[in-house]
Amino acid sequence: MPSPSQKARALEALHKEIRKCRRCPLWTTRTQAVPGVGPPDARVMLVGEAPGRQEDVQGQPFVGTAGRLLDTLLSSVGLSRGEVYITNVVKSRPFIGPPPGHNRAPTAGEIVACRAWLDDQLRIIQPEIVAVMGRVALEYFFPNRKISEVHGRALAHDGRIILPLFHPAAAFHRRELRETLKQDFLKLGQLVRARSSRRSSRARLAQAAPPMKRKERSRRAQNTPG
Ligand code: URA
Repeated sequence: MPSPSQKARALEALHKEIRKCRRCPLWTTRTQAVPGVGPPDARVMLVGEAPGRQEDVQGQPFVGTAGRLLDTLLSSVGLSRGEVYITNVVKSRPFIGPPPGHNRAPTAGEIVACRAWLDDQLRIIQPEIVAVMGRVALEYFFPNRKISEVHGRALAHDGRIILPLFHPAAAFHRRELRETLKQDFLKLGQLVRARSSRRSSRARLAQAAPPMKRKERSRRAQNTPG
């Protein structure tokens, strides 16, 4: 298990690579790439679709109107932006029209080109819970699932929990989704709390148990009868 400082170095190096990325044509129109932000050992990762105009200008994910709603939803369940890692599937802003243009959904080619960056972020950070916001982020993990069918349900994937959520921006077009988002964020809060209490009871048990003898430890490791 890498130490927090090893993770920090690996993530910083990865962010540098992402900032130089030219794997799809979006590099020609972006102000800058937006790798992600948050602690390198965050237990919770939030994944959105792609940077919008504000994110492209500031180099940070979710700093526009959707970001403000995201901050409110996080704090409603006792989480702050500073304790989660936030990123997007696509790291550069897709838009149409003459600059500054209008945000658009990323194309399949842009998503494929960017995929390995998120793979690397997951490998380095090793979050326990990944909240995927919107269709594009859900499809990265579950290509055949629909957000309307699985939102708010914890799904298992590669040893971690994936929690699908509607994208906060969707709540601006469909007001009724605000309440759904609130409820689904409650689920995120519950999952985080459940994981924390599991961790602390494991730590308490480890402290209470007498230290295992060397022979016993190696027998258990090899899983052989004593
Ligand atoms: N929408 C996203 O999906 N990501 C951002 O960073 C901002 C808005």
